[in-house]
Amino acid sequence: MASQIAKTILEEMTIQEKIGQLIQLSGDFFQNGTAAITGPLKEHHLSLETIYTAGSVLGISGAERVRQVQTDFLKHSRLKIPLLFMADVVHGYQTIFPIPLALGATFDPQTMHDMAAVAAKESAAGGVHVTFAPMVDLVRDPRWGRVMESTGEDPYLNSVMAKAAVNGFQGKLPLDANHIAACVKHFAAYGAPEAGREYNTVDISEWRFREQYLPAYAAAIEAESLLVMTSFNTLFGIPATANQKLMRDILRQELDFKGVLISDWDAIGETIAHGVAGNLEAAADLSLEAGVDIDMMSFAYAKYLEKAANLDEHTKLLIDEAVVRILDLKVALGLFEDPYRGLSVEREATTILSSDNLHVAEQAAEKSMVLLKNESVLPLATDAKVALVGPGAHTGDLLGSWSWQGDPQKTSSIYDEFKSRFKSVEYAKGCGFHALNYQELDQAVMIGRDSDVIVAVVGLPSSETGEATSLTQLTLPTEQLTLLKQLAALNKPLITVVLTGRPLDLTAVAAVSSAIVLAWYPGSRGAAALTNILTGEVNPSGKLPMSFPRHVGQVPIYYNHYNTGRPISQTADDDENKYLSKYVDAKNEPLYPFGYGLSYADLAVEQLKVLNPIVNDSQNLQVGVTITNHSTISATTVIQVYSHQLVGQTVRPVKELKYFERLSLAPLETRDILVTLPLMTFRSMQSNLQWQVEDGDYTVMVGLDSDNVLQQPFEIRANNKRGQE
Ligand code: GLC
Repeated sequence: MASQIAKTILEEMTIQEKIGQLIQLSGDFFQNGTAAITGPLKEHHLSLETIYTAGSVLGISGAERVRQVQTDFLKHSRLKIPLLFMADVVHGYQTIFPIPLALGATFDPQTMHDMAAVAAKESAAGGVHVTFAPMVDLVRDPRWGRVMESTGEDPYLNSVMAKAAVNGFQGKLPLDANHIAACVKHFAAYGAPEAGREYNTVDISEWRFREQYLPAYAAAIEAESLLVMTSFNTLFGIPATANQKLMRDILRQELDFKGVLISDWDAIGETIAHGVAGNLEAAADLSLEAGVDIDMMSFAYAKYLEKAANLDEHTKLLIDEAVVRILDLKVALGLFEDPYRGLSVEREATTILSSDNLHVAEQAAEKSMVLLKNESVLPLATDAKVALVGPGAHTGDLLGSWSWQGDPQKTSSIYDEFKSRFKSVEYAKGCGFHALNYQELDQAVMIGRDSDVIVAVVGLPSSETGEATSLTQLTLPTEQLTLLKQLAALNKPLITVVLTGRPLDLTAVAAVSSAIVLAWYPGSRGAAALTNILTGEVNPSGKLPMSFPRHVGQVPIYYNHYNTGRPISQTADDDENKYLSKYVDAKNEPLYPFGYGLSYADLAVEQLKVLNPIVNDSQNLQVGVTITNHSTISATTVIQVYSHQLVGQTVRPVKELKYFERLSLAPLETRDILVTLPLMTFRSMQSNLQWQVEDGDYTVMVGLDSDNVLQQPFEIRANNKRGQE
């Protein structure tokens, strides 16, 4: 429902001013707080009026700079329509949290919420109004570099995290000065590029899209994300940004999204390269027709909409609709009352990188790290003689991609933390991420030889993660494997810490390491969090949000796969029978499965009871679970409940996550928990593209990962017909 302010302003606007609201400029159009007549303005053959009638800008932040630009802008705005400041505040503003994939590994929506709330508070103080987050693209192919921005391969985990992120960024609507508008992205299915190649074709069935890829976007929109961003890829044969079925029918109609739809960077212009628009004018028409309100940096709207508007009333109407949505967003942000929205240098000083914020980030990092292997060598005694080696051991590059306001120079390294926590630490780099010289290698071997235990920090630099970083190989660089092998030959405990934004093939690493800790890119306080885990001050609790393959040839690999017509049986028959759905040169299973992560404690799911094995349409499934901590240390873990529908109208995944909960157990504690699952939990996408809960036989499974589970049957008799048999 358009606000009165929006309706009033709309009536006074010229067509140029209306089209201006639909244009987003990059920050370099403004230099020294005012419009720059050189640089991009000239490069794109635009007028100064384009700048001073623009609706929004991306990539400018900082109280002083935003104040300067907004003040100058309003001086030149005839109707005093404030500029909207948008930015990529994805996993923190200046206090950088673990990357979103690592936040997925916490299986803790509260942690995701707290990240977003801290990021909102810091960036709001710095003048940001809208963040281009959360990214909720489902991902199953670690060759694609942007898996780091997602929370992983499961529709339910992603939906829970998407909602938590939107609520953290926006708080309760109407937005207050400590919160910012969320922009859920990338709509839609950008996470499924063929061969994991960046910007490549996405071609999945609508049936699969609706069942697995759409739910997380829907959850973010249900949580009232005020914006949505289009994706670069095609879907159902048409680029998303020009796709009316996707944007008008599904997003606006079905999901009832009333907010602002912004294109990704030049995505409107890219419809030409996709071969769907013959030129930029056609690109503008197609995207406006699809309902894209803001053109990020293609200038199609700036250059062609006025002509189109002068030609027909329909275009004028579409432009007015878009303008009203954008003005309403500015109303929701309170910009007409206060174009500076409470930004202040003082608030920046007290809010940004505060000890409270850093503490929240440290706790998030502790919860995100995953213990993949431990041959009783962890935790380490602080009086141990430690040799710390590897390209990631003494670097502030722990922030990962999309941390543009973070400062690696201000980020303590793992060596910095070790020095203050272990009695004796020797450091040697050993090799670079992609470089090796024998002098450095020898130095590392030498300190390893003189130590009680070796900690090797390996992985990829954060520049090799995020957008435009697709890889064909998932193994560690050979230089780093050489270092690990040389260290392993010393027959000392070798603890390998992995810095990565994507699942890697850790087969060779596991073969030589006594223990493996997956640290992801753990953020501003990542080094402290890792040290807390390695010393046992914190018991690891992270679980994998994506399967880790044993070979890149298995990819895409994910736990919620279909059975196929020739499934392997996980028995000796698999080797006997050639004609099964398997490889002849590798196992089907990943090296580490979805939901996997060890603890220092010995934890076990002891019992699973289905309280009502026959569920009718007025009931929920009730499941009793008993979990025991057999150790004398406390522990936190994630209990996971999966289900499988034995027979469905469409094929059903072998298991689907339906519930998860972080549980903390005291030493030697046994806990009984009751899990209640509403019937709708078991809905499945039918071939008519409708959700339905089908009668029939199901299995419920419970475990501390997706592989090792207890299971029990149950039956759904919800549609009554079975009751009449
Ligand atoms: C991009 C990314 C998008 C980001 C935008 C603005 O290319 O795809 O996620 O928000 O540019 O930086």
